[in-house]
Amino acid sequence: MDAIRFEHVTFAYDNGFVAVDDISLTIRSGEKVAIIGQNGAGKTTAVKMMNGLLRPKSGKIMVFGEDASKKTTATLSKKVGYVFQNPGDQIFNQSVYSEIAYSLRYLRMQQEEIERRVTEAAQICHLADDLQTNPYDLPFSIRKFVTIASVVAMDADVVILDEPTAGQDLLGLLYQKEIIERLHGSGKTVITISHDMEFVIENFDRIIVMADKKIVGDAHKQEIFWDFELLDKAALKQPVVAQLANRLEMKRNIITIDDFVSEYET
Ligand SMILES: Nc1ncnc2c1ncn2[C@@H]1O[C@H](COP(=O)(O)OP(=O)(O)O)[C@@H](O)[C@H]1O
Ligand SMILES: [Mg+2]
Repeated sequence: MDAIRFEHVTFAYDNGFVAVDDISLTIRSGEKVAIIGQNGAGKTTAVKMMNGLLRPKSGKIMVFGEDASKKTTATLSKKVGYVFQNPGDQIFNQSVYSEIAYSLRYLRMQQEEIERRVTEAAQICHLADDLQTNPYDLPFSIRKFVTIASVVAMDADVVILDEPTAGQDLLGLLYQKEIIERLHGSGKTVITISHDMEFVIENFDRIIVMADKKIVGDAHKQEIFWDFELLDKAALKQPVVAQLANRLEMKRNIITIDDFVSEYET
């Protein structure tokens, strides 16, 4: 089953600026995908169209086989949850609890179910002790987990994380890895935008590369990071260990220390 399908999708902001130009992609249900590319490439704009926060100017978007243009944003966001790049764009409640509960209340869920979901999402996002805290009294790095918890609580089939690693320390990165693993393990489709190549390589295999409003690459990470023409076009660098393997004229496709060591030992 396809979770998300874009056919020749183009988007322009109100001022006429075209931010996404004729992109097509298919993401299967249960897949884990990273979207990378320079600032301004159009990544956030593209994913916001997946749950109806933005609507394409032309082209077709299918969500689980249904035409997204015929669905409200509220209906789409039950299937596709989006965690904003900037937590400040998402958080507006006075406590972590009410922030996580907000969408569930909006959907008129039973009180017991709301409590169950908020507690579980808070646990998963390491916020169990912060439920009564005002999100704005928490550091930025933890506020990001509040926004992740809100989306986790919705239990949507697709979870989109927009730059989750910004401002995170090692423990934050580890928690995010756990959350991604957990979501993926429970059959969810996980889409992450990230500029953190180490994080991407550690957590994802399929990588979509955007540059200048378009998709310029969509392949396994081992291919992406050895495609010099593509890296050049998208202004991306090889991971250091791949650069080293390249300098030593070792076999291509080495991108992790493990790859390197196992090649070195043979
Ligand atoms: N509300 C807006 N109005 C006009 N242009 C915008 C708006 N939001 C983003 N853009 C422009 O659209 C382009 C793509 O932005 P975005 O999708 O946020 O890129 P990315 O997430 O890859 O950094 C950028 O040039 C950005 O300046
Ligand atoms: Mg962005």
